[in-house]
Amino acid sequence: MKIPFRRTVARMEGYVPGEQPRDGGFIKLNTNENPYPPSPSVRRAILAEADASLRLYPDPDATRLRRQAALTYGFDPSRVIAGNGSDDLLAMVARAFVGEGDVLCCPVPTYTLYDTLVRIQGGRITGVPYPGDYSLPAGLAARRAKVTIVASPNSPSGTGVPTAALADLADRVPGVLVIDEAYADFASETALSLAREKENVVVLRTLSKSFSLAGMRIGLGFGHPAVLAGLNKVRDSYNLGRLGLAAGEAALRDIGWMEKNIAKIRKTRSALLSALPSLGFSPFPSQSNFVLAKRNRGRSARPVFEELKRRKILVRYFDTPRLSRCLRITVGTDDEVGALLAALREML
Ligand SMILES: Cc1ncc(COP(=O)(O)O)c(C=O)c1O
Repeated sequence: MKIPFRRTVARMEGYVPGEQPRDGGFIKLNTNENPYPPSPSVRRAILAEADASLRLYPDPDATRLRRQAALTYGFDPSRVIAGNGSDDLLAMVARAFVGEGDVLCCPVPTYTLYDTLVRIQGGRITGVPYPGDYSLPAGLAARRAKVTIVASPNSPSGTGVPTAALADLADRVPGVLVIDEAYADFASETALSLAREKENVVVLRTLSKSFSLAGMRIGLGFGHPAVLAGLNKVRDSYNLGRLGLAAGEAALRDIGWMEKNIAKIRKTRSALLSALPSLGFSPFPSQSNFVLAKRNRGRSARPVFEELKRRKILVRYFDTPRLSRCLRITVGTDDEVGALLAALREML
């Protein structure tokens, strides 16, 4: 049977997430998860919520979570939207702004889900290559796209863009600027204030990374109420379940727990960054919980990736011309990163 998919769906590949191995025993440094557990108050909140009320639909407006996010980040709740992870918010952006034949602009290489979401809509990405140092490329605004997305810190480079450069870009783009701040808690700067100051800026955050809640799927968006009203129209009404809503609220209340973990990860990140050059890799400066490291002397990083995997250490390898010499390494615990460095040393 010829399955009558839409042409764009039939043609597209579908997003391939990083490997989640079924069998244990791996040191998992491939999907930028937090190596430390979430706040104990999250578990308590989930358990308290897991009662007979589960038979009822969750709050479609995520009122309490949005109120807590507004309090934590200094916004009015009308400027906050909640997503089932920030991927869900990115999907809403695509649904709301990208139609058949439309373009979405972003600097590349970046988070490849943007491409998938835009393709689903029948649109396409117009990518502006990052220069070698991953500073914000000129020419983004000149593409005149209705939506421009900048991940800052960016994945897979780990590099961040100064807020001043993003503010300037927001003033020049003809439409909306989405700043994907999935990793902002690990950075020295955040552009969250732009979501308050500029009508055309939406800032996305996630609790997956810094709050150790990748398994719960909680994302937050900040922006002008009129923009969020459009996103709400294309949102699944019950996009967060009761457990996610409770977990998110509890996590945001215990910001100190997250900050302690961030401090540990930053320290381990420094150690990883300073060890890599003596092991044949040049790391890019990282503002995130991972490091992109380029293998010296023009050599492919694939054999290193494969040998690490054989040794049960998973990192991320991207088989593209620009990234084939690189490994993206999540900052784990000191022990995990120590094991990775020891393996690389043996492989020299
Ligand atoms: C740049 C970027 N944005 C968004 C996400 C998605 O995060 P979430 O788990 O909130 O969907 C990721 C996850 O890897 C990411 O790298």
